[in-house]
Amino acid sequence: MADSPDTPAVDADSPLRHRHLLDLSTYDADELRHILDTAQEFRAVLDRPIRQVPTLQGTTVASLFFEPSTRTKLSFGLAAGRLSAETVSLSKSGSSVKKGETLKDTARNVEAMKVDVVVLRHSSPGAPHFLARCTDSVILNAGDGAHAHPTQALLDVLTMREHIDTFDGLNVSIIGDITHSRVARSNVQALTTLGANVTLCGPATMLPVEMERAMDVRTTTDLDAALEGCDIAMALRIQMERQDEGLFPSIREYHMKFGITPDHLRRHPNLLIMHPGPVNRGVELANDVVDHERAIILSQVTNGVALRMAILYLLAPQRTDG
Ligand code: NCD
Repeated sequence: MADSPDTPAVDADSPLRHRHLLDLSTYDADELRHILDTAQEFRAVLDRPIRQVPTLQGTTVASLFFEPSTRTKLSFGLAAGRLSAETVSLSKSGSSVKKGETLKDTARNVEAMKVDVVVLRHSSPGAPHFLARCTDSVILNAGDGAHAHPTQALLDVLTMREHIDTFDGLNVSIIGDITHSRVARSNVQALTTLGANVTLCGPATMLPVEMERAMDVRTTTDLDAALEGCDIAMALRIQMERQDEGLFPSIREYHMKFGITPDHLRRHPNLLIMHPGPVNRGVELANDVVDHERAIILSQVTNGVALRMAILYLLAPQRTDG
């Protein structure tokens, strides 16, 4: 049984000091760069006619998704398949969680079936850290409440790296419902570790100002200020499922104050637009912005598969010499 939530890698040759991917707070710049370099190699594999390598033959990956997901779930499934791992998956509606089973018991039963890696999405912050403490499987966090979404942030910085020379001094603005966004938190960790400047922008009711001190970022409620001198703008969805009452007057008013429009693209001719998906067209991004050539949203999705291949390659136990 693992006695610490994140004991060092079993493979002494691995430059990674982690056994799990829970959040990015303890990953240093060398580790992040190593993950990105590995993902870049897998990105090339995805363009080959045969996109499968035998590396994880004999390794079993279980995906437990207790919250809805399109991109992350498919992407982890594809990544495991491309590496020839065996995969099983479970969602909340089809599982015994509906019958009152605890997360710990579900995970220990999954582990008893000899699963090597658990990919977990859960609405409770810290759920993956808890599993890492009470099971022996490698745990990969696929999003825990508003806390962390490390593979999303890693695929985001991988995508940025295709368009920039260096993270040093890069200006990235993250715009939207920051309070409830695990994507924002993990991106701040990755980007500040790599040397970028981060501005967080949103309505005052969705912008925790204490993040400014705690996470070494700038905060503003003014979209124009956030876009001034900005290289990359990342728009976020309003997380309706994580708030009881409306924290903004109306969708229309939100779009008028915080939505990115073709006019913003005209005024900032080098600005790139990112979004983790799912996009609410006409809210955080105008329809034409989503489809604009400077929106690199679908590259993020493609890179997500390569990045998750890299994470599985680096952290999953390899059972063959493949
Ligand atoms: C994000 C998530 O689930 O946190 N989506 C994703 O994983 N691509 C963002 C969101 O749901 O708004």
